[in-house]
Amino acid sequence: GTTLSHPHWDFLHCLSLRLANYSTISKVIYVQNNPSYSSVLNASIHNTRFSTPATPKPFAIITPLKTSHVRSTLYCSKKHGFQLRIRSGGHDVEGLSYVSEVPFVILDLLNFRAIKVDTKNEVAWVQSGATLGELYYAIAAKTNTLAFPAGMCHTVGAGGHFSGGGYGTLFRKYGLAADNIIDARMIDVNGRILDRKSMGEDVFWAIRGGGGNTFGIVLAWKIKLVPVPAVVTVFTVNKNLEQNATKIFHRWQYIAHKLPDDLFMNVWITKVNSSQVGMKTVQATFRGMLLGGVDELITLIQDKFPELGLAEENCNEMSWIESVLYFGGLPLQSVDILLDKNALPTLSLKAKSDYVKEPIPESGIEGLMSMFLEEEADNAVAMIPAFGGKMDDIPENELPYPHRAGNLFEATYIVQWTKEENAESGKYISWSRRLYSYMTPYVSKSPREAYVNYRDLDLGINNNDYTSYEQASIWGFKYFKNNFKRLVQVKTKVDPMNFFRNEQSIPPLLSPW
Ligand code: FDA
Repeated sequence: GTTLSHPHWDFLHCLSLRLANYSTISKVIYVQNNPSYSSVLNASIHNTRFSTPATPKPFAIITPLKTSHVRSTLYCSKKHGFQLRIRSGGHDVEGLSYVSEVPFVILDLLNFRAIKVDTKNEVAWVQSGATLGELYYAIAAKTNTLAFPAGMCHTVGAGGHFSGGGYGTLFRKYGLAADNIIDARMIDVNGRILDRKSMGEDVFWAIRGGGGNTFGIVLAWKIKLVPVPAVVTVFTVNKNLEQNATKIFHRWQYIAHKLPDDLFMNVWITKVNSSQVGMKTVQATFRGMLLGGVDELITLIQDKFPELGLAEENCNEMSWIESVLYFGGLPLQSVDILLDKNALPTLSLKAKSDYVKEPIPESGIEGLMSMFLEEEADNAVAMIPAFGGKMDDIPENELPYPHRAGNLFEATYIVQWTKEENAESGKYISWSRRLYSYMTPYVSKSPREAYVNYRDLDLGINNNDYTSYEQASIWGFKYFKNNFKRLVQVKTKVDPMNFFRNEQSIPPLLSPW
């Protein structure tokens, strides 16, 4: 097997003593020579860019069964100098929950997946390791008129998602996932177990959007459920370049953010094979959902956005939980698929994000579209959800997530490639950087805002030792605008020695290094 150095032995010894019995130890600690190590590690890797032989590996993965195991892991990794990476769903687009350049262990919350739904009081407790699919499933098992406003991909974990904000098809009506969190259970760097009251409002504010792996280990969240009608209407309209995609998207920018908050609308830009033109073209997919019936939807769109040409055949009435399958790219058959973490393929990817406050001129959209015709964009997508609605009503400093009123939409650019082509990954990543640079004149400025849940290490990273406030401000203001200052204050108070950290965690002031 692998030869372990002293600190490794000391860590394992420390943890074994605290876990006390052998059968617990074998279910909780996975070191590199354990036959299950790779499968436990890979089970929650959702970006194969970070599962190559060259990717740094944790010396151990700890999968706690109870709170005391989490505290023991924290205690022993602090005592023996291992960095801790907390993993819930493993969707971090830069792999930060399971990769580090310094010796590290993963605290994997895969056994913290309990969900308790209380329909009478319209609340639920959800543990961090639960996926959004499991949460939605648990709500729908009890009622079809309550929901939770979080992300669209069912395998995303509650832990990381809520830590960065989190949005999906209900956000124009109810705001972010983080806007609907009312309590939390967390372990701080000193091993104290805290709830909203004992952590205080500053910390409770920071953990709802200030980014994961920074303030402590959040074990569970208490969330407010939100009402939805028994029947919602989803729709999809595809327009390629030959069908006026550019002009229609241009027009969409003036309208979508002003539509009623019962309507969610998202535009996806992708390269497609067009049978009509017999060649590759670029398609704008207008996909959305109304919290209401099909007649109401068609009347609304014909009145406000006739250019879309929405017809009944584009629409589908269904329950909210079925809409989760629809937007998650899952077959509209059994909702049981929401419990399957492997329902969708995992590729290698790089993501970047922008916020847009002024409509992009047609010439600008033409250039964006033509970049999607390039070879590297075969598996690329720009995901563009309209803002407005409830997002306009929430003040910028309410939570760390600052991108509220004044945004027409967000744009997330994701370029993907298959693992076999890893050697070539450079060309895909440079395509995404070229796209980002192309978009500069059309997007938010000073700062150029970005969404922390689509982390982008191109924006800057912490040093391994001391990182100054000024250095971290470069990316900190992009993600959090002025809220960055308060995040630094909270961090300085709860974790002054900067134990919880990663490449883009909030640094404390005056840390001793
Ligand atoms: P992961 O476990 O990787 O955690 C992310 C970060 O939070 C890491 O830094 C980690 O250390 C930290 N962390 C995790 N659990 C923690 C805990 N319990 N306590 C403290 N820190 C913790 N976003 C969105 O808003 N809407 C959407 O629809 C989607 N869709 C989507 C699809 C796909 C395919 C991907 C890859 C990503 C998205 N996202 C998204 C982005 C997603 O919200 C973001 O990546 C989340 O941080 C993922 O949370 P996980 O728990 O899955 O990741």
